[in-house]
Amino acid sequence: MEIIIQANAAVANGVAARLFAKAIRRNAGAVLGLATGGTPLALYRELIAMKLDWRKIVTFNLDEYVGLAPDHSQSYHYFMWENLFRHVNIAKKNVHIPDGLAKDIPKFCAKYEKQIHAAGGIDLQLLGIGTDGHIGFNEPTSSLASRTRIKTLTPQTRKDNARFFGSEAEVPHHCITMGIGTIMEARHCVMLAFGKNKARAIAETVEGPVTSMNPASALQLHPRVTVFLDEDSASELKLSDYYRWVYDNKPDWQKF
Ligand code: PGA
Repeated sequence: MEIIIQANAAVANGVAARLFAKAIRRNAGAVLGLATGGTPLALYRELIAMKLDWRKIVTFNLDEYVGLAPDHSQSYHYFMWENLFRHVNIAKKNVHIPDGLAKDIPKFCAKYEKQIHAAGGIDLQLLGIGTDGHIGFNEPTSSLASRTRIKTLTPQTRKDNARFFGSEAEVPHHCITMGIGTIMEARHCVMLAFGKNKARAIAETVEGPVTSMNPASALQLHPRVTVFLDEDSASELKLSDYYRWVYDNKPDWQKF
């Protein structure tokens, strides 16, 4: 894993935005895996401001709440259109987000996997991380080989996300999420994690054992992962001086 620690989230988002912009400019038809939540908002704002050409870009979102219609203000459909897609020239037909209202969920999930495969797989996958180490909505003890499926959210995740809904009672119990196995097939995974409340999950992800108790730790087995952190989320890493040294001494050809 490449660990990039920046002074604050704003600087880290700037570097992450350059990485995404480079991928989009290099491949006009790139397949992007996208994430929701508080973390990617600033990155999306940066990408919008860059006025990139999204016409041929194909996207797959990680997850969606079961039971929320696309126009529900807390659905991830709504989030993506509101915070990114309506501000760029993406083609609606190229946008894929799990359907929280799917009647036959297993059938929908199998179709989603097929669509990712048919698009040629995901080139660049954006990831946040839950305070419990979830990626997508793969909660602790998720199979590290899992595919897109229905999952039950943990009480912790429902608590963490209650801030968006107004009250915990309104947070759905179930979601559809890409599996860890699905995420692991992306060619390059980029994780963003900011703030003190992510420090433990990040230390376990990067330096702990690979364990389904911290699903993000599966990324240790992925050949290409870049993790963007601020000082707070990096605060529990044992080898932070080493990661800083590596980044400061990056050869020019590796720079973003
Ligand atoms: P957050 O969520 O960006 O709102 O902290 C991250 C996640 O749950 O993956």
